[in-house]
Amino acid sequence: MKVEEALHMVGGAGETSYASNSRLQEKAIIRTKDILEKALKNINGEVVSKSLVVADLGCSSGPNAFLVISQIISALMEAGCQKAKEIVFLLNDLPGNDFNTIFRSLSLYEKKVKEENGDQVLPYFVAGVPGSFYGKLFPRNSLHFAHSSYSLMWLSQVPVGIENGGVNINKGNIYISRTSPPIVSKLYLEQFKRDFSSFLKFRSQELVNGGQMILSFLGRKSSDPSKAELCHFYDLVADALNSMVQEGVLEEEKVNTFNMPFYAASKEEVQQVIQSEGSFYIEQMQILESNWDPFDDSDDDQVFDNVKSGHNVAKCMRAVLEPLLVRHFGEQAFVDQVFARYAQNVAMHLHKEKTKHIVFILALKAKDLNN
Ligand SMILES: C[S@@+](CC[C@H](N)C(=O)[O-])C[C@H]1O[C@@H](n2cnc3c(N)ncnc32)[C@H](O)[C@@H]1O
Repeated sequence: MKVEEALHMVGGAGETSYASNSRLQEKAIIRTKDILEKALKNINGEVVSKSLVVADLGCSSGPNAFLVISQIISALMEAGCQKAKEIVFLLNDLPGNDFNTIFRSLSLYEKKVKEENGDQVLPYFVAGVPGSFYGKLFPRNSLHFAHSSYSLMWLSQVPVGIENGGVNINKGNIYISRTSPPIVSKLYLEQFKRDFSSFLKFRSQELVNGGQMILSFLGRKSSDPSKAELCHFYDLVADALNSMVQEGVLEEEKVNTFNMPFYAASKEEVQQVIQSEGSFYIEQMQILESNWDPFDDSDDDQVFDNVKSGHNVAKCMRAVLEPLLVRHFGEQAFVDQVFARYAQNVAMHLHKEKTKHIVFILALKAKDLNN
């Protein structure tokens, strides 16, 4: 499966769309506010002649794309606008992304910004850039600032070797699991290293010297990849699919050949790739924890309403996974069943243990490689 062709979040603005089910990701964007303001302040005003050029990598469709734009505009206005007279926002995602929904809501967003800020707001321009951020996207030395949230854990492909000549070495699982042979984790890590290095290499060519990036993505706390919080998250999807195999609703072969193009790296793995690729300084690295249930904002370990949480988590996951599942399994009809079972599995899990996602937030500065 080519991720570039297959991956996109559920488009539109309907009940199951990403636009209506992206509170988890919204919370992470809000929590990057301080680090984002600091990074924007650090951009050397001299390199921005008139327009500040900003890329949002993996923007998806829905309100979060506008939230990023808002946060950047406010941060620049707070910094006194000296940095730029106008801003160009380049919204990137894979070609299957529903860019139309973003562009259709742009005028509503602009109206809201005017109402909130009057004519004070910096003039800005928005354009879409389809393509993979693991390749070249923009002209050399053309970006001042790049932002990416909840996207870099997606790999460019399922690691080579997992599906070997039609034989899947990770049978019964869809991601690294406790029952996966150790080679599975190794192949996932190698793919992550290749992809993240390519991402850094291409961005370093596109950013001006001293350009900044704020990246947030899912990771893990444990040094053992099979003990990541997300392994359990995907085990519960695998359990839903496997139960449908047992009941004869899905073909075993289909489940056995499905693997997630996704990797939750550890802090050390992320730092090691940045250091060995060599184009960026790590200015800051923070680790956030976020409850699985996007609507559970509590900080304690008390279990929320676990049945409700199961539904909330399933809605959030459906908005992300549905297109990938439908492409592999070839049937829209089974999706309701998968996520109904998944909601139950999550509810049972959360009843025993409140679990959190681990999110890395990184502020990176491009090195001046000519000096
Ligand atoms: C979970 S969404 C996050 C969207 C948004 N940034 C947010 O925080 O709500 C992840 C997005 O990354 C995009 N994505 C994944 N791999 C990508 C790649 N190689 N190039 C560009 N976009 C990619 C997906 O298509 C998806 O829209």
